[in-house]
Amino acid sequence: MIEVEQLSKRFGERLAVDALSFTVGPGEVLGFLGPNGAGKSTTMKMITGFIRPSAGTARINGYDIQAAPLAAKREMGYLPEGAPGYGDMSVRQFLDFIADIRAMSGAWRKERMDEVIQEIHLEQVLDQKIDTLSKGFRRRVGVAQAILHDPRVLIMDEPTDGLDPNQKHEVRNLIHGMAKDKIIVISTHILEEVEAVCSRAIVIARGHLLADGTPEELMARSRYHGAVTLDLDNAREAADLLGQLPEVAAVEDGDTDTEITVLPREGQALMAAIGRVIDQQRWTVRELYQQKGRLDEVFRDITGGAAA
Ligand SMILES: Nc1ncnc2c1ncn2[C@@H]1O[C@H](COP(=O)(O)OP(=O)(O)OP(=O)(O)O)[C@@H](O)[C@H]1O
Ligand SMILES: [Mg+2]
Repeated sequence: MIEVEQLSKRFGERLAVDALSFTVGPGEVLGFLGPNGAGKSTTMKMITGFIRPSAGTARINGYDIQAAPLAAKREMGYLPEGAPGYGDMSVRQFLDFIADIRAMSGAWRKERMDEVIQEIHLEQVLDQKIDTLSKGFRRRVGVAQAILHDPRVLIMDEPTDGLDPNQKHEVRNLIHGMAKDKIIVISTHILEEVEAVCSRAIVIARGHLLADGTPEELMARSRYHGAVTLDLDNAREAADLLGQLPEVAAVEDGDTDTEITVLPREGQALMAAIGRVIDQQRWTVRELYQQKGRLDEVFRDITGGAAA
């Protein structure tokens, strides 16, 4: 369990994190969303004991990060923003160093080393100096050091940032696979990632918590939630006619001349009503689908389109 209690951080005049409170339980993958400068990294740095809070605290599996920092840190793996590592060390030396400071030993140490190197596909760069790695590989080494001691709590600041599409996919799979018995918090700017791996999302801006819910709950706040998109030849005529249905709030033009999107009034279902009109008018519809909602639109809405 992660318990974040009234966590605040002040940098001079600027209140970067403002009395943030939330808890995360086992099996949850929490996505941290927010515009640049929202306070995501600062919050993660406080939870992991990297910087001191100005007020409030966090407890990791019962251990207060300020009163019992060592015990709390033992519970956690942390992938910081960017890709910190010791540039002079080879990947192998660096992971060995991490295993040392995590006091890993014996067969388990070797087993974890082998597993992680294989999972993150580091074989080909094991003897390369970290300084000479490409950005993506440096990031992968960061992920490797975070999960090496198989922690019960994982805090990862933009884990897929800078990775190629294959690796993004693999790291998401890895997170997915670890989710069952761990508590995972990730920050990301990639909204599809939230849909793909997170069971819950928190949106923050200017250090404030603005929304907290499952990706589906957030998506339900979109004006496109339950909207129906059609592709047909007489799109203009269809738009006029469908716009008159009592269930319909608005009709928007699509990307092409033959595409329209019909938006529902709050709480109204559209598919059946639209289906009836299609039947009556004998339209030939090439495509017809209902939308779940658009997370990017909800995100803009919640955060007011604002940076810090
Ligand atoms: N050491 C510091 N000294 C002064 N201000 C800081 C420091 N660290 C962060 N800040 C400020 O705190 C605010 C929050 O920064 P933070 O890095 O937590 O944002 P973020 O949500 O992680 O943004 P991004 O999406 O760009 O990574 C910003 O205004 C930032 O400039
Ligand atoms: Mg950040």
